[in-house]
Amino acid sequence: MSKFPDYSQRNENAQANTLFVERWSPRAFVKSTIDDAAMLRIMDAARWSPSCFNDQPWRIYTSSSTSFSAFLDCLVDANQAWAKDAAVLGFMVAQKNFSHNAKPNAFAQFDCGAAWMSFTLQARMEGLYTHGMGGIKAEDAANMLKIDTTEQEVVMGFAIGRLADQSTLSSERRDAEVPNQRLALNDIWRSV
Ligand SMILES: Cc1cc2nc3c(=O)[nH]c(=O)nc-3n(C[C@H](O)[C@H](O)[C@H](O)COP(=O)(O)O)c2cc1C
Repeated sequence: MSKFPDYSQRNENAQANTLFVERWSPRAFVKSTIDDAAMLRIMDAARWSPSCFNDQPWRIYTSSSTSFSAFLDCLVDANQAWAKDAAVLGFMVAQKNFSHNAKPNAFAQFDCGAAWMSFTLQARMEGLYTHGMGGIKAEDAANMLKIDTTEQEVVMGFAIGRLADQSTLSSERRDAEVPNQRLALNDIWRSV
């Protein structure tokens, strides 16, 4: 068995740059740190994302070595099992209302998704991987981060880290760590 899943061949019909095709969401992370300069570049990539009214509703919270375990506690158990070895854990928080008129921003989560993908791809360019998580304890995360839930909501969690040898995973998780596929372009794109 190879040490790492072979994602380079995951879609023989892929047209996009390998940056997109070879991004995936690992669970086997090797305990490591990310230097400050790389973290700055990763978060700055998020900053340049587009957003409705340029409201930039994303607020990104990341763990330090001292807060890591508090972040970990805010994930569901199934995610804690592998995310414990990530270098950095984080939560994407959305500003619920537009800053220019205080009205609800229906695109806040959408814009957070754009920011998430931007920093994910910058992370890839740094040799790192991210793994998004809907499996979070959102209320616990809001309390831990001391956010005002009338104004903000915790959208998702994420892990950033370095790939580990698959043998570090339990056999059950290792079996799940296979390149997954995508719908065909025909299924998602209509040029009308
Ligand atoms: C918003 C979001 C929530 C996700 N939640 C979880 C999660 O709770 N646990 C998990 O192991 N993976 C989670 N994932 C990872 C997806 O399962 C993964 O991105 C998807 O299967 C596609 O695989 P790939 O990213 O390896 O290409 C999540 C991804 C996103 C974007």
